Amino acid sequence: MNSPAMQGLALNTPAYVKHARLIAWVADMVALCKPADVVWCDGSDAEYDRLCQQLVDAGTFKKLNPAKRPGSFLACSDPSDVARVEDRTYICSARKEDAGPTNNWMAPADMRETLNPLFDGCMAGRTMYVVPFSMGPLGSHIAHIGVELTDSAYVAVNQKLMTRMGKAVFDVLGTDGEFVPCMHTVGSPLAAGEQDTSSWPCNPEVKYIVHYPETREIWSYGSGYGGNALLGKKCLALRIASSMGREQGWLAEHMLILGVTNPAGKKYHVAAAFPSACGKTNFSMLVPPEAGFAGWKVTTIGDDIAWIKPHADGKLYAINPEAGYFGVAPGTNMHTNPNCMLSLNKNVIFTNVALTDDGDVWWEGIEKDTGVVPGHLIDWQGKDWTPQIAKETGAKAAHPNSRFTVGAQNNPALDPQWDDANGVAIDAFMFGGRRSTTVPLVTEARSWTEGVYMAATMGSETTAAAFGAQGVVRRDPFAMLPFCGYNMSDYFQHWLDMEGTLAKTGAALPKMFCVNWFRKDDAGKFVWPGYGDNMRVLKWMIDRIEGTVQGETTMFGTAPVYAEVNWAGLDFSVEQFKTVTSIDKAAWQAELKLHDAHFEKLAYHLPQALVATKAELEKRLAAV
Ligand code: OXD
Ligand code: MN
Repeated sequence: MNSPAMQGLALNTPAYVKHARLIAWVADMVALCKPADVVWCDGSDAEYDRLCQQLVDAGTFKKLNPAKRPGSFLACSDPSDVARVEDRTYICSARKEDAGPTNNWMAPADMRETLNPLFDGCMAGRTMYVVPFSMGPLGSHIAHIGVELTDSAYVAVNQKLMTRMGKAVFDVLGTDGEFVPCMHTVGSPLAAGEQDTSSWPCNPEVKYIVHYPETREIWSYGSGYGGNALLGKKCLALRIASSMGREQGWLAEHMLILGVTNPAGKKYHVAAAFPSACGKTNFSMLVPPEAGFAGWKVTTIGDDIAWIKPHADGKLYAINPEAGYFGVAPGTNMHTNPNCMLSLNKNVIFTNVALTDDGDVWWEGIEKDTGVVPGHLIDWQGKDWTPQIAKETGAKAAHPNSRFTVGAQNNPALDPQWDDANGVAIDAFMFGGRRSTTVPLVTEARSWTEGVYMAATMGSETTAAAFGAQGVVRRDPFAMLPFCGYNMSDYFQHWLDMEGTLAKTGAALPKMFCVNWFRKDDAGKFVWPGYGDNMRVLKWMIDRIEGTVQGETTMFGTAPVYAEVNWAGLDFSVEQFKTVTSIDKAAWQAELKLHDAHFEKLAYHLPQALVATKAELEKRLAAV
């Protein structure tokens, strides 16, 4: 490989970077990608402002009206680059079986042969940003470090909000610390002398999101958007980290983490897995109902990802590896998520929402706050949008997967322990999908294995967070289907093994609950009010932890009886309660057949304990 020095390209390595292996890797990648320039990000506010201005000058960012939304920008992507691309996402383990049937796989050598020519010269005419970041509090024993090389300034500024990014990472790395190398290019090199005319460079035809779990590398080509490009998030914090966790005895999960404090000041911590765009951000920032919940408080530790480690005291401790939120905008308003709306008042990067005539942002659902839909907007594709156009064509002003990026510090409900290097002790896990039928509002698993079974067989109706048909039920075990970096059945076994690890200490295991906020009635309307009212379910779970409610035993686990739920301030009848909690025998017989099909697909290394749990459920169902 020609060294950058041979090409006359300065690496511009700052004097504070003392890590020879890292510098050598950057040099190799510069030689491969052939950028016009190399910039090491220090994570300062001045750098953030400079890059944002550069993005404004390039037409990628539109500065929003500072009187309405200070320090905030709107970016609109290429229409081909709006979501994660699961069919272009690969786990390239040495053996296909280790990627398992739920991941796309290619042999590492073959993938390298495919990617090398694509990366060769991929950054021509562009700047390579060296973006050092810590996933988790700097220096935490649960945290890990990544370094992303990217030719996207949009990625660099998003990483500043989403991670602990910059110079301080090198202090933790020292001269020889471990880091995950993350290569990212928009895959749109410029010819010699060519001016970049695109406000959202990407490669509309070729995209690869590639993970090598054994060598812990990430290579992402062709997309500038979200989980495809902000490599700390899904690629490192879930796919690579899940595989590290398996080897090292910890868990990397697609889970929010929240704190809930009762009026007596006792605090509990809950980690909850829901598939993409099913309300994790809303739940993590929940505001309890006013009536009946005086003195209760919910605080956010994380809204999307949890890294969870067993500790010598027999408890599982969780950190949020991220430092910001990359959340779905549509549907967010003062009713569904007031804390989120308050977080978005300033210093936000919006992507693919609509622009109002007075320089603010807009998305479907936000009108519920004012009752007024603007007469004119510029939609996410830069076109005029009016309510009339929407009526005639169905055009959405904001893309259904449009997003906000905002630092965690903006959140008024931020938990005081959110940045605690030791994490918080988890008292309960929740697993939930989007199911209009079949799955009850809440059920507690009778055992750790039964909880793992519930999570392993979770199904959910698909959403706009990934390309593909929406509203179709797909199995999404632990909400990890698109994010597990190794064979899913081995992942189930890893969860089952955790019980043994914790049992050695004699400490109580976290309880496990399965929830579903999305049951519909015969008219197709959601029955459960959701959002802040989910506190009623959370409170019941805490009562179960404290042993103050008994629930009733159902074929599926322990469920609340009507009288055990705090209904203060909500008119929710026994009939409605039945609609969201009923277990329909025929529907469950059909559901268990689907579990069979799911397990058949996952037959390689499928834990026997799960097969046995299913047989138990079948027996119970037959007896209903
Ligand atoms: C996300 C996702 O962006 O799950 O968090 O798609
Ligand atoms: Mn997610």
